[in-house]
Amino acid sequence: MISDIHGNAEALRAVMQAEQDADASIFLGDAFLSGPQANETLELLGELNPSIAIRGNHDDEVLDPRIFRGWPAEWVALNEWILADLDASAVPCIESLTDAGAYQFDGLSAYLHHGDLGSRDLAAVPDAEDHVFDLLGGGSDADLVLFGHTHVQFMHKIGDRTFINPGSVGQPRCGVLHACYGVFEDGVYEARQVQYDPAPWLAALDRIDVLKDFPDFKSWLSAGLLTGYGIGKREPWTRYADQGYA
Ligand SMILES: [Fe+2]
Ligand SMILES: [Fe+2]
Repeated sequence: MISDIHGNAEALRAVMQAEQDADASIFLGDAFLSGPQANETLELLGELNPSIAIRGNHDDEVLDPRIFRGWPAEWVALNEWILADLDASAVPCIESLTDAGAYQFDGLSAYLHHGDLGSRDLAAVPDAEDHVFDLLGGGSDADLVLFGHTHVQFMHKIGDRTFINPGSVGQPRCGVLHACYGVFEDGVYEARQVQYDPAPWLAALDRIDVLKDFPDFKSWLSAGLLTGYGIGKREPWTRYADQGYA
């Protein structure tokens, strides 16, 4: 089970190599934006061909760039560049992603949700309140709820219900440069991480010429990858890092 690749093909390749014996895969959303290796990620996702693939908030932006046009100029420039460079086959790939809902796999029933509940006050992080996790279950009484979006690898239990975030493949936020994911084997879940070489990602970032106009932003993106603090070394991510989350 993978989530939140964000155009980091090196990270996805490392997961696929580590788990090449897997029978099937589940993807929980956020495939390409806003990473520099969107086309390589598209190719690898095609190879992986997940049996269930849920649409994330950054996947919507591929189909409707109006979503990000009001963002800060550096983000608009980066996203426009990635979308202009992205192979046309990304559109049917994104269109094939499905909505949150009840799914079956490996003899298990689960409610799958990208994890975006529409507000930062409703972030499904390890210390979120119970009502946030209830919302992730989409009103179902599913015993197992799988989600991504917050880029923290954790499992949370409320009564008989288990909520699992496999963490982010391409943009972890808890201070370690690695790819996070999870594996179900005979119905038992295990959280895993794998190391990878960041050099090709950094080289791909260098090829995005519009970032020359935003050198501080480019440095911030690079530092985010290399330090494992994907969107900055700050609260609450430093707290989750201190608590041992990946
Ligand atoms: Fe994400
Ligand atoms: Fe997301």
